[in-house]
Amino acid sequence: MNPPDVPAPDQPDAEDGAVEASAEPPAEPFADADLAGATVVTDEPLAPKTWLRVGGPAQHFAEPVNREQLQALVRRCAETGTNCRLLGGGSNLLVRDEGVSGLVIRLPKEHWSDLTIDKVVGSVTVDCGAPLSHLVAETVKAGLAGLETLVGIPGTVGGALHGNSGGRHADVGSVCESVEVMTRSGDICTRTRDELSFGYRRSSLDELCLLRATFALRPADPDALADRARKTWILKKSSQPLSHQSAGCVFKNPRGQSAGDLIERAGLKGTRVGGAEVSDRHGNFIVTGEGAKSADVLRLIDLCRDTVLQRTGVELETELRIW
Ligand code: EPU
Repeated sequence: MNPPDVPAPDQPDAEDGAVEASAEPPAEPFADADLAGATVVTDEPLAPKTWLRVGGPAQHFAEPVNREQLQALVRRCAETGTNCRLLGGGSNLLVRDEGVSGLVIRLPKEHWSDLTIDKVVGSVTVDCGAPLSHLVAETVKAGLAGLETLVGIPGTVGGALHGNSGGRHADVGSVCESVEVMTRSGDICTRTRDELSFGYRRSSLDELCLLRATFALRPADPDALADRARKTWILKKSSQPLSHQSAGCVFKNPRGQSAGDLIERAGLKGTRVGGAEVSDRHGNFIVTGEGAKSADVLRLIDLCRDTVLQRTGVELETELRIW
């Protein structure tokens, strides 16, 4: 399902909100600061780090390799009033052409993907920078049921939890037991099941960074799980433009309706603005091609929303995060 030249599906989506600064932050907030060895670069292109492959750069960008570095970066942002955002796999994110101010942090999966399975208890604990696909594959292999129908969903575990990723049969929140998080002031704490709430494409996890999560799963036959995952994957492939540059579904489904169906019935499939197009395979996907701009995608989103509203009275709400 990996579109050519697009970051691996396993890379998210904690496209978390930024900390809005109240006073003007210093131009060089990270110069001479003790960042526990973390490196900050400037004007880092974000387009190649997103699935839509459009949009401008991050003013500052860092990939901390451990908690100390992450904490030092987050604390420095808090001290200096610098906006701080977390980039996950970039699979549900549109970055505007002008780029983003402040710091964008991405957790490199080589350093943030530890996974431990306890088959006796039926639980799995995983670092939130891990690809969701890795978590799904490992739990299926271990014969633990609950995540197998999330096959083919791109992004990181953190991004999946943040937006409660899922499909028709399950979502990630329904089996989540606890999540260790880092707040915008750099403090680490654990949110347990009774403090968490998950809804359709939303969660109460609004902290800057999700660090590690535990899921409670049920023992099952690995072959049966693999078979279920395979069937879900085949269905997905038959209806979604998975070989193109896209960010999955653009809009949430309105209650009891399908956004893709509404867009199709409004005659919008195949509509182009610049280098962006409403997929002719699935109406709720926008695909980008050569020369596409973020502005093209935004205009297409507005066109879909306005046309569907005019024709049906239904107001579509974006699922895609926009920076
Ligand atoms: N449909 C159309 N035309 C279209 C698209 C869909 O008529 O262009 C109809 C289908 O024929 C079907 C119904 O709408 O009867 C539902 O379509 P589909 O099975 O494709 O599911 P969906 O509701 O469009 C949701 C999730 C997907 C997830 C699939 C499968 C949302 C917004 N989308 O799509 O998630 O993969 O179910 O579980 O909830 C995503 O969130 O990024 C995403 C891709």
